[in-house]
Parts: sequence; structure tokens; C-alpha cells
Amino acid sequence: MADLVVESLTTMPNGQYYRLILRGESPLLDCRPGQFAEVRIDQTDVLLRRPISIHFVDKERNEMWLLIQKAGKGTTALSSIQRGNRLNLVYPLGNGFNATDNDYRHPLLVGGGVGVAPLLMLGAAFRNLGVEPTFLLGARKALDLNELDEYEKFGRVFLTTEDGSLGEKGFVTQHSVLSSEKFDGVFACGPTPMMKAIAQYAASHDIPCEVSLENRMACGIGACLCCVEDTRNGHQRVCADGPVFNINDLKWQI
Ligand SMILES: Cc1cc2nc3c(=O)[nH]c(=O)nc-3n(C[C@H](O)[C@H](O)[C@H](O)COP(=O)(O)OP(=O)(O)OC[C@H]3O[C@@H](n4cnc5c(N)ncnc54)[C@H](O)[C@@H]3O)c2cc1C
Ligand code: FES
Repeated sequence: MADLVVESLTTMPNGQYYRLILRGESPLLDCRPGQFAEVRIDQTDVLLRRPISIHFVDKERNEMWLLIQKAGKGTTALSSIQRGNRLNLVYPLGNGFNATDNDYRHPLLVGGGVGVAPLLMLGAAFRNLGVEPTFLLGARKALDLNELDEYEKFGRVFLTTEDGSLGEKGFVTQHSVLSSEKFDGVFACGPTPMMKAIAQYAASHDIPCEVSLENRMACGIGACLCCVEDTRNGHQRVCADGPVFNINDLKWQI
């Protein structure tokens, strides 16, 4: 657990997403892409911490980035935190992507909506290994696709929007890059239907695929069992055994 200091809060153009940059007063703990933090919301009617993916870690500046969507009480309350305030986090939690343990040469990182959050750090990890990742990011409209310059620092970026306002029109699973290139690993985070469709694509092309689940959580540390997913290995706690799972371990119809 640590108190981090709010360095900046940037509201994204759609007014619904914001990026928090937090600075550690002592060195940040080591985090893997795909791990998350349980964030304490200092508001009396928000009792439980909220799980938020670690978006990026800037080791040189000792900063952690979070990308958050105003979904309800907690995330809306947090959006009014001020620069210099302290935010209490339990981190790093869960198991991240196993991406960097394998010898992927042409990985595809697919994100939908605010589910893009853990992919920036994952892309940076690939880049550090000398591998150029391909990001495929999708959203409803152009305004929901943010920080594209940050992703471009680490890899190639392909986009889809449902209304066609940026990138190819449609869903990420319809993007032409999926048929024009052969990837050797797929890593996805976003709405469940999107992840299931990407899992289907990966399975049909025989490509290893990991997805990050966002089941509702309470304790975040494996004690309450409220986040369990029925998998081929029995009931797994998404907070402690995941949130990242290989699609072969899930009971998805793919
Ligand atoms: C491992 C993990 C990583 C996550 N990473 C991020 C992230 O990087 N950025 C981000 O914005 N959100 C992330 N989420 C989702 C985030 O935790 C929820 O949006 C947040 O808890 C909602 O809290 P609230 O108090 O604002 O909303 P509440 O008032 O509690 O609920 C408002 C709405 O949000 C929905 N909601 C609550 N919990 C979840 C959940 N776990 N997943 C999806 N919808 C939920 C509720 O069904 C309800 O419709 C993550 C969730 C998990 C489990
Ligand atoms: S949230 Fe309590 S066990 Fe996962």
C-alpha cells in the first residue's frame, strides 16, 4: 500500500475519461503490464476500493499513470482530485500479461474503450525488448480515442470507430490489418464481447491469446470470492489468479 501524490489530472476530450499522473515519494514498486491497483476513494459513501489498471509507469520520473472512465460514484468522485493531493493505492495486484516471457516478434495489442489502459505499458515493455508491437484500438467515436501519440512512441497504431469518425469504420474485429498481417501473439482488454470476438480470431488463426477480465471486484486480494470466473481450471479469482487469462483456460465458446 502506498500514498502517491497527484502530479496532474487531464480530462480527455470526451469529458468521460481522465488521466491521472501520480508521483511516488519513494521508489514505485515494480509493476508488470496488466497488473492493477485498488484505489481508495475518499468519500464516505464509497466504501470499497476501485480496481484500476496500471496504464503506464515512468520509472525515470517515478510516476504511475492511470486512465479512468467516469462510470459511477467512485470514479466520478476521483475525477475532482487536485494536484498535490495524495491517493492511497494497494498495488501491484494480480498477474499481468505473460507477453514478455515469450519470444513474440509480431504481437498485436487490442483495446476497446477504456480497456486500452493496460496496453500502453504492455507496448512499452515490448519496445524495451526490441519488438515493435501493433496496437489496434477501437471506440465508438474519435473523441473516445486518446493519447494516440503515446502509443505511437512504442509501435504502430491502427484504429476503428463505430461511427467511422477516425480509422476504419466498424469494430476492431473487422479491421483489415487482421487479414493482411500474420501476428504471433494477441493481447486484449476491453468489453467482453470484443474480447470474445478477438479470442475467436486468435483461436481460428492458431495464435496464442491472453485477455484481461474486468469482473466486478470487492476485496481485490483474493479473499472474498466475489470476482470468480468459472474456468477450465475450476473457479478462479480474477483479482488474484488473473485478471489476465490465456483464452484456452476460459470456458468461452470460441
Ligand atoms: C482488473 C480491473 C481493471 C480495471 N481497470 C480500469 C481502468 O484502467 N480504467 C477504468 O476506468 N476502469 C477500470 N476498471 C473498471 C472500474 O473498476 C469500474 O469502472 C469502477 O470500479 C466503477 O466504480 P464506480 O464507483 O465509479 O462505479 P459504481 O457506482 O460502482 O458502478 C457504476 C457502473 O460501473 C459498473 N462497474 C462497476 N465495476 C465494474 C467493473 N469491474 N467492470 C466494469 N464495469 C463496472 C457498474 O456495473 C455500474 O454500471 C477495471 C476493473 C477491473 C476489475
Ligand atoms: S475481489 Fe475478492 S476475491 Fe477477488
